[in-house]
Amino acid sequence: MRGMILAGGAGTRLFPLSQVASKQLQPVYDKPMIYYPLETLMSGGVRDICLISSPHDLPIFQRVLGNGHQWGIDLSYEVQPEPGGIAQAVIIGESFVKQEPFVLVLGDNIFYGQTGLKSLISNFGGGAAIWGYRVQDPQRYGVIEIDSSGLVASIEEKPDNPKSDLAVPGLYVYDGTAVSRAKDLTPSDRGELEITDLNLSFLDDGQLSAVELGRDVTWMDSGTHESLLESSAFIAAIEREHGQKVACLEEVAHKMGFVSRAEISETIEKMPQSPYRTYCERSILG
Ligand code: DAU
Repeated sequence: MRGMILAGGAGTRLFPLSQVASKQLQPVYDKPMIYYPLETLMSGGVRDICLISSPHDLPIFQRVLGNGHQWGIDLSYEVQPEPGGIAQAVIIGESFVKQEPFVLVLGDNIFYGQTGLKSLISNFGGGAAIWGYRVQDPQRYGVIEIDSSGLVASIEEKPDNPKSDLAVPGLYVYDGTAVSRAKDLTPSDRGELEITDLNLSFLDDGQLSAVELGRDVTWMDSGTHESLLESSAFIAAIEREHGQKVACLEEVAHKMGFVSRAEISETIEKMPQSPYRTYCERSILG
């Protein structure tokens, strides 16, 4: 299955940091934020990935990530001229998804732990699949109610009075109808094609299912100064505790069998001397 990463947006909430680099290129502890959603896709077995960003930021992503071959993946790029909403990305990616099922992940979403994406992809039978994650401040997110059979009973974007505490993380699996559904959407009051409206279109047809993420998974939306700091502190603590890096893409690529030992060794040799390189040498080359 193909994957899309949405890494544009105005990024105004992170001003003045956003003058230096876009939100998804800000550091989350020891790596650019974009490494984390890339890990989410790669761990799900997704190797054909299209990154969508603004005309200003896209060249920087291309410089930082290249064609992805160093990680055994194919990275392509598309421009979103204006931040017209998350669902607009689905339309921009039309020629990339070719009316086939795909995964969409938001560039500022960090998942630590098993999302179950890999098995969901293998068993995906159509419609749309999303996740739910219990939070204390559901008003900040898309919010769902799930019934006992795993079907979504309702979904609302940033409701004042949420019907549950289940937020919708920025990870979505759609069948090929998503593009034409996105084209039928009308912009919301804030002038955006809302991802929640796309999900509602599937819900109206009884085709939206959701899985609640377990307590062994941590999900973070790193779109504010506070959450950026919290994400960095979380990743630093996990890496210290386990002596292993989160979202070391060379390690993920090797574990997933996307690259051989010889290939990854070549990639590591090109890295400057740094703690990251030392870690790769130790953890992958042994
Ligand atoms: O993080 C999960 C939440 O993401 C969901 O629960 C909400 O349902 C969903 O609407 C979204 O809410 P946010 O307010 O967090 O979305 P935000 O505007 O921060 O955009 C999320 C990411 O998508 C961010 O990395 C920027 C990127 N983006 C956003 C828009 C609107 C684009 O690349 N282009 C866009 O036009």
